[in-house]
Amino acid sequence: MKVFALFVLGLAGWLAGLPAVQAQAQPQPVDVLHWLTSASERRAANQLSQYLAANGVQWRDAAIPGGGGMAAVKVLKSRVLLGDPPDVAQLIGTTLTDWADVGLVLPLNAVAARQRWAQTLFPTVMELVSYQGDVIAAPLGIHRINTLLYNRRIFTRLGLAPPRSWAEFEILARKLQASGIKPLAWSDEPWQIATVFESVLLGEVGPALYRDLIVQRKSSAWLDPRVERALNRLRWLRAVNGDTPREQPWTDAARQLLLGNVGMMVMGDWAKGELMAWGASPVKDFGCVVVPGTENMHLYSIDTLAMLVNARHREATQEKVAELVSSLPAQLAYNRIKGSVPTHRDIDISSLDSCARDSWDTFADPRSARVPSLAHRMAADESIKDAVAQTLWRFLADARMEPAEAQRRLAAVIRAPSAER
Ligand code: BGC
Repeated sequence: MKVFALFVLGLAGWLAGLPAVQAQAQPQPVDVLHWLTSASERRAANQLSQYLAANGVQWRDAAIPGGGGMAAVKVLKSRVLLGDPPDVAQLIGTTLTDWADVGLVLPLNAVAARQRWAQTLFPTVMELVSYQGDVIAAPLGIHRINTLLYNRRIFTRLGLAPPRSWAEFEILARKLQASGIKPLAWSDEPWQIATVFESVLLGEVGPALYRDLIVQRKSSAWLDPRVERALNRLRWLRAVNGDTPREQPWTDAARQLLLGNVGMMVMGDWAKGELMAWGASPVKDFGCVVVPGTENMHLYSIDTLAMLVNARHREATQEKVAELVSSLPAQLAYNRIKGSVPTHRDIDISSLDSCARDSWDTFADPRSARVPSLAHRMAADESIKDAVAQTLWRFLADARMEPAEAQRRLAAVIRAPSAER
């Protein structure tokens, strides 16, 4: 946070010195920085840019490859430091509030009021995009992190049913192995480890303790024996294929699932979007269920676009972008490709695929638990998220590290929200 504060001072100085330029008469393209670069992500971004173009707004693409936005977030920081923030950026979760704190994010209160976001969007979504009385981002869609994808062709051929518990998962793993198929796609990229871990954690500890651990960030809660169980499960999952795990992009892991080299994959439902972009069908080729132990729970990551304050003064166009991308027609078309679901409530979801319908229904159901993803910035800032992911990576890389030691380290890197500011 200290580095961030220094950076903020520099930025504040830069913002104060902005020349007062009049809005351009000629329509200029909007510069959009994002990390939507896999096949499905690219298509989804193209869908948005075409929708904007049809409504008179040109999209100039500034895509930065890298799963989970690791590289994009760094590029954004350096562009801001160089005095060249993009007009629009894929900023999500707590990253949004960090940038809003330094006055970089254009409030979208007028758009939100015109489009009645408070009435039409899910309350959880509204909460996420609201900060200190302002609406600070335009929502695109809701991803479900606690998703388990399986190769339907293999499961049908071997007469297998998707797992509802870890005990069933273990039996399945043995059956797949006996047929020469690796049970689970795996990558040692820290953000992917963190993505798997938080789903496993939610299943092991339940929503109440999950909130203490991830939202309240109570250090002492990390010493709970149920966290130890989640760590042991994570280690077991990594070892279940029997070969040395390696870092690979999530798209490569999804490809192995489609090719039938592995039977299952735990990943946010953007992996479903990717399989569909490659021509796979959720009816014939693959299926999705929730990660064992997480029925009626929705571990969410909500994608949003923020409009950034910059010397070009494109406020009217930026507001138009926010209005267009968050509208229901744009969201329906975008989310169908992306694998996520619209952020609108009271809509007809019959045209969505079965995984998306289940995700939307669970998110909409007041009886189910909606909990935010740490790995995807919904619950803590970039530095805490990275520290947790690195700690988990280390725990997996060092077979001698006891779960209790990992728990102590996690308790140390998790700082309570109040200690942050
Ligand atoms: C984003 C998704 C994206 C995924 C993989 C997540 O943080 O929310 O939109 O597909 O990262 O890059």
